[in-house]
Amino acid sequence: MAVGLFDSGLGGLTVLDAVEKRLPEVPFVYYGDNLHAPYGVRDADDIYELTKRGVERLWQSGCDLVILACNTASAAALRRMQEAWVPRDKRVLGVFVPLIEALTERQWGDNSPPREVALKHVALFATPATVASRAFQRELAFRAIGVDVEAQACGGVVDAIEEGDQILAEALVRSHVEALQRKMPRPQAAVLGCTHYPLLEPAFQAALGPEVQVYSQANLVAASLADYLQRHPGMVGPGRERAFLTTGDPARISSRATAFMRREMVFQPA
Ligand code: DGL
Repeated sequence: MAVGLFDSGLGGLTVLDAVEKRLPEVPFVYYGDNLHAPYGVRDADDIYELTKRGVERLWQSGCDLVILACNTASAAALRRMQEAWVPRDKRVLGVFVPLIEALTERQWGDNSPPREVALKHVALFATPATVASRAFQRELAFRAIGVDVEAQACGGVVDAIEEGDQILAEALVRSHVEALQRKMPRPQAAVLGCTHYPLLEPAFQAALGPEVQVYSQANLVAASLADYLQRHPGMVGPGRERAFLTTGDPARISSRATAFMRREMVFQPA
């Protein structure tokens, strides 16, 4: 009954933590494509091919359902995969929709027309590829009207996290928040639209100020997944073992992941 979680690297571990707490009976198989991270500076075709490779590997591990715990892959590859590649007995889901449903205060799966919502000014922090795709704005426009989104491409942040350089990552966050504030001085809410960024949530909140509500995805995705599995119990795959797979150096990735998660994480070659 395994479920797969895919990310370009370590960021998806923020989602793993939340889904494991919410669904302790489900074994999760994690795939981090650390060898090819960051995805945020790659083009859409490249992201599509790399994501397909990771998803196929998770299917081989008995995960019929794979969550792309990566906004960049969700933005640049998911729709194309769902339309032309995913077989009928498998599912691949992304991380945008639960976040947008929370922002727009909708129930899961509410397909009614878009309507006015309380939020008017939203700052989106994401990777360059996610920002370029405009996927967040597109999904939001299906559900809400009158929301002004200002997006800030946060170059360098994922690399700094993958390298374990917290000081550089925090300095980059401050400068990206300043750049955003030059375009939108008073956002009501800020969306951390990259699964690596919750690791820096205190830095985002400090730079934005206490009055800005910061949304990050992990708990929203966990709630959405629990709801999905209740409605589609057949989508838990035949796999029984929890596992952590990486395309990078397993010893190095295990030690980085252990530091992030503050518990022992042992990765094996993908
Ligand atoms: N965690 C990925 C995301 O949510 C990071 C992408 C990257 O590798 O640049 O977008």
